[in-house]
Amino acid sequence: MIKKLLGALALSLTCTVAAAAGSDYPLDRAPDRINNMASLQNGAKLFVNYCLNCHSAVSMRYNKLTDIGLTEEEIQKNLLFTTDKVGDLMTIAMRRQDGQAWFGSAPPDLSVIARAKSVNLGPTGVDYVYTFLRAFYRDTSKLSGWNNAVFPSVAMPNVLWNLQGPVTYSNAHTQRVEKDGKTDWERVSTTFDPQGFSEQKTEVLANYRGVEKTEVLFKYASQANQAKFDNDVADLANFLGWMAEPDQLLRKKIGVWVLLFLGLFLVVAWRLNAAYWKHIK
Ligand code: HEC
Repeated sequence: MIKKLLGALALSLTCTVAAAAGSDYPLDRAPDRINNMASLQNGAKLFVNYCLNCHSAVSMRYNKLTDIGLTEEEIQKNLLFTTDKVGDLMTIAMRRQDGQAWFGSAPPDLSVIARAKSVNLGPTGVDYVYTFLRAFYRDTSKLSGWNNAVFPSVAMPNVLWNLQGPVTYSNAHTQRVEKDGKTDWERVSTTFDPQGFSEQKTEVLANYRGVEKTEVLFKYASQANQAKFDNDVADLANFLGWMAEPDQLLRKKIGVWVLLFLGLFLVVAWRLNAAYWKHIK
């Protein structure tokens, strides 16, 4: 019985991993900045300025941002559109049907996206968002002019393009080919230049004894810009992670006290136990 239950649990775990993986693009690990208020505030600013026109976050109120150290005046001045009030929910004017019609796929609400995209025992949703937002490249064959290495043919355009700066994207796939009963290996590489025009090259690999694999590379025009962009996206992903579970800061703080209390109580219980049994033994 127990074996059966364990089997079912293992199966359901592997299924979630497989389903969430979607594309086999390896996810980068986002820096852990959940206790960094400056990072969360920068993330909130980027979120309101770059995402909140298409995506809503209907589980979040603007004044909840006081939890990450912003004052109501700062929220009012820097983050609110003139018609919004500080107690309002983060809704948007665009209707779902319009989003569907304009982009081909409606932009999802982002309130809990960082939890929705997490994989049991695997990468977190914050890792997903961090990698996804840094995986856009120009592709002239797509309607929006953009493509994404994590989510191929995504309907979302690269809204952070001005922060990202020009990039060249290439992927190289090393694969086995059977020709005239003989096995050969070849490497097919595709490069998209910063304008989105692509070029494909195939080279035959003599004497290659390896495995099939795919390598991807994003080359930025400027390294300084790449570092700044990675940093901003890490803050934005961090904010989405906080928004999906705003009470995690408090929960972790309480958790430390609970553990301290339990540790102390253990000592008390141990000594009490010894005192009670002293005369009986
Ligand atoms: C111009 C409108 C637009 C803006 C602005 C925009 N998005 Fe999107 N986004 C979309 C659309 C459309 C989709 C649905 C894509 C699909 O299903 O193909 C989407 C999907 C997503 C997804 C889900 C991807 C997945 O794997 O399902 C995430 C995460 C996301 N957006 C994050 C962001 C963030 C963060 C920002 C701000 C930096 C942002 N978006 C700004 C239009 C937009």
